[in-house]
Amino acid sequence: MSKLFDLQGKTILVTGASRGIGFSMAEALAQHGAKVILNSRDESALKQKVEKLKEAGWDADYVVFDVTKAEDGLTAISDIVQKNGSLFGLINNAGVQHRSPILDFTTADFEHVLSTNLTSCFSLSREAIRFMSNSGGGRIINTVSMLGPQARPTVPAYIAAKEGLRALTRALAVEVGQKGILVNAIAPGYIATELNLALLENKEFSDWVISKTPLGRWGNPSELGGGAVYLMSDAGGFVNGQVLAIDGGMSIQV
Ligand SMILES: NC(=O)c1ccc[n+]([C@@H]2O[C@H](COP(=O)([O-])OP(=O)(O)OC[C@H]3O[C@@H](n4cnc5c(N)ncnc54)[C@H](OP(=O)(O)O)[C@@H]3O)[C@@H](O)[C@H]2O)c1
Repeated sequence: MSKLFDLQGKTILVTGASRGIGFSMAEALAQHGAKVILNSRDESALKQKVEKLKEAGWDADYVVFDVTKAEDGLTAISDIVQKNGSLFGLINNAGVQHRSPILDFTTADFEHVLSTNLTSCFSLSREAIRFMSNSGGGRIINTVSMLGPQARPTVPAYIAAKEGLRALTRALAVEVGQKGILVNAIAPGYIATELNLALLENKEFSDWVISKTPLGRWGNPSELGGGAVYLMSDAGGFVNGQVLAIDGGMSIQV
């Protein structure tokens, strides 16, 4: 394996890794030598996914917690450091969507999306930075979205959260860069995952996605893994505060 992309000896926590994009990122990182710690709220799904990675001969473990419960996240990070000696990387990937016309969109629904998709990333990053600062640096990747700079109806909380997460990426990148901690974001386009089941089943919407994407198709979760490896590895060693779009070109098409 090229040393540029070698992640041997690096422990990386991926939130929302029981399926979809998070699991695919974890799989690619493990394949490149990292010890990946998969997180979600579903222990049986995590166990199954860790087994799959171990069967392939890679190093993996899991930690169950709800990212909206800040205290649980802090305990999990501290436990990971104790058990593995360090934490090199954090991918803030756990996310939820809530779709509703504005007049039916409750404040509780808005706050739930913000709490999962944005506030949790702040709390987990802060605790990861606490450890990374004392161990020579590290990497943080936030999963954002095309939505944020661009908008669609009925998803105001998601758009606000993801745009906030882009801003948080820049804010942290300039504050902790000198400690050797690099903070970047990955912005997937339309990827065929459970989050988008309703959209995938809607032929009109799915055809619209295909027509608006220069590559002419939905993305696969596995296509996000390479970006994560790049930003976690020596290959991405001078990339800081950036957003890597992995969207088949959708975001740059007029
Ligand atoms: N799919 C797309 O087209 C797309 C596009 C742009 C951005 N994204 C972003 O990519 C990320 C992953 O999305 P996906 O499409 O892979 O979605 P997904 O298949 O629905 O997976 C979401 C993951 O987040 C976890 N999760 C949700 N709430 C959580 C919580 N409170 N605590 C811990 N884990 C939680 C879920 O695990 P459990 O439910 O098992 O806890 C699951 O592992 C999200 O941030 C999403 O916004 C996706």
